[in-house]
Formats: sequence, C-alpha cells, structure tokens
Amino acid sequence: MPQNFETIRIPAGEQHKNIRTCESIWSQMMNLNLSRRALCINLGGGVIGDMGGFCASTFKRGMDFIQIPTTLLAQVDASIGGKLGIDFRQVKNSIGVFRNPQMVVVNPIFLNTLPASEIRSGFAEIIKHSLIMDAEEWSRVKEITNLEAVDWPDFIVPSLNIKQSVVEQDPFEKGLRKALNFGHTIGHAIEGYALETDHPLLHGEAIAIGMVCEGYLSHINGLLGERELMVVVDFIKNTYDYWPIPIEVADELIALMKNDKKNRGAEINCSYLKEIGRVAVDQTADTDQIIQSFHFYNEMVRESFV
Ligand SMILES: NC(=O)c1ccc[n+]([C@@H]2O[C@H](COP(=O)([O-])OP(=O)(O)OC[C@H]3O[C@@H](n4cnc5c(N)ncnc54)[C@H](O)[C@@H]3O)[C@@H](O)[C@H]2O)c1
Repeated sequence: MPQNFETIRIPAGEQHKNIRTCESIWSQMMNLNLSRRALCINLGGGVIGDMGGFCASTFKRGMDFIQIPTTLLAQVDASIGGKLGIDFRQVKNSIGVFRNPQMVVVNPIFLNTLPASEIRSGFAEIIKHSLIMDAEEWSRVKEITNLEAVDWPDFIVPSLNIKQSVVEQDPFEKGLRKALNFGHTIGHAIEGYALETDHPLLHGEAIAIGMVCEGYLSHINGLLGERELMVVVDFIKNTYDYWPIPIEVADELIALMKNDKKNRGAEINCSYLKEIGRVAVDQTADTDQIIQSFHFYNEMVRESFV
C-alpha cells in the first residue's frame, strides 16, 4: 500500500463520464502537483476505469495506472483491453485512447454491495462473451434463472478470459476484436439516447436490447438460425425489463449510429452472429433493416409484459 496517496472522488453515473469531469480530475491532479511518475489507482465501475484511465493517460502525457474494478461489468469487460475514454455530445466513448493499465485486480468481494440492477447490467457482457466466442459457455449461461443465486467467480473467470484472449490477439481492433461489438452498435445509440431522457438505461440493459436487435439482423441476413435467435431472445426477455424503443426517434438513433467510431464513411458497421460462438465482423447494417429490428424487439419483448 503506498504511504503517500491522495483521493479524487467523482459523482457516480454515466452522465458524469464527460469532459467537464475530466477537467475537474486534471485540475485536482495539477493542484496535487502530481508528476507523470505518480500512479493512478482507479477504484470503481467502468465509468471510473474508463475516465480515470483516460485522465491518467493524458495528464502530463501519461502516468501509470491500475484498474480495481468494483462492478461485475467492469470485472468481466471494461477493465480489460486498454480502451479508455469519455462520452461526447451523446456519442458514447467517442473521445479516448488505447492504453493498458499496469495491473487489473479483480476481487468478487466488491459484488456483495452491488445493487441487483448493476449485477444484471454486467451480466449482459457475460452473455455477450459466451454468444460470440464460446457455445459451451453459453449453454451454462443460459441455464441461469436467478441472478441472486449465481456463484459469480464461476462465470467471471471464463468471461474475462474470453475478453483477454480476444484483445491480446487484436489489441487495436483491426479485426477479431470487433466481435466484442456485437449488440453495441444499436446498444450504444440506445444508451446515448436514453441518457438524455427521464428513463436512462444502464450500459448492460442497453446492450441487451442491442443484442436482440443485432441478433435479428444476423438472422435476416442469412446468418444466425431462427431457433438459435429465439433462444437468445427468450433468455434476454426473461432477464431484462422491457424498454420500448420509441420508433418516432428512429432517425435520431440511426444518426447516433452513424457517428459510431467503428464506421467507415457513412455506413453503419455491425458485428453479427454467424451462429452461437461465431461472429461475422465488418457487416454493414441497412437503415430499413435496423428499424425493422426495433419493431422485432418491441413486439417480441412486449409479449412477455402484457
Ligand atoms: N473500456 C471498455 O472496454 C468498456 C467495456 C464495457 C463497458 N465500458 C464502459 O463501462 C461503463 C459502465 O460501467 P459500469 O456498469 O461498471 O457502471 P458504473 O461505473 O457507472 O457503476 C455503476 C454504479 O455502481 C456503483 N458501484 C460501483 N461499484 C460498486 C460496489 N462494489 N458496490 C456498490 N455500488 C458500486 C457506482 O458508483 C455506480 O453508481 C460505461 O461507461 C461503458 O461505456 C467500457
């Protein structure tokens, strides 16, 4: 434990993952006279990890940092892979850098105090990791019916290993790493939009919606089979609340997708499931099909709430 440390606290929530909070963090670092030989320890969820890592990486051209993720989502996903950054003008993670921490410390004890909604949010990335890379793991994941009864280390370790293996093979997202974006093209747009409304969604809740929509797009583009799609959809609708996608703002959602950093030119880039455990990256999503996928989500998922 370092003898000489100072604490910088920031308010919780995605709405604070922005340049204003960074300014406050950099100012406090400056007031503490930190040099680039200081070490920044990011203790918190994905927001702290992404933004703390970004501030550490840019302050005086970059100091070392350690991630101590305290949410399920950050333990299986956000703390691994060196993507750091903040949201800008409703576009998620649109300003940032790639830089790896000196160390990531994952301790499931933090989950004891994590609200059930945050556990459910993190679980979305566990679902995604199994769907994109490991059919056997998916067959274990889809048996989970009660999130309160799960022995999390049993699922955290395989999940973070999937992420780690992908990012090691493709650290700068030239190919394979794009598989991790399954559910995120539509999910990020929905998350960015919802953030500005009275009913914001947690990251994983938005990604769960994105996985239904992008699963549907995978199917109608001749990849994922209907039976597999419906198993995924049923599992997600049994696990997550229904958040009706407002069709009247479809154009706004599509505009957000067009701003996604994964795109080339004006095309919307997506990763589709070929089958459970295999992904087709660099797919171009057609805007009419995206709107169709919103209707699919609304109809499929509403059924279980009427
Ligand atoms: N860098 C990446 O590769 C990557 C990957 C996935 C997600 N993300 C980002 O991660 C963020 C979401 O992370 P998150 O879901 O951890 O959200 P979060 O960081 O907002 O944390 C969720 C809430 O839980 C609280 N909290 C944290 N740890 C707690 C604990 N142990 N007990 C009780 N409360 C606790 C936080 O204060 C906050 O209110 C998004 O900004 C997303 O873009 C990044």
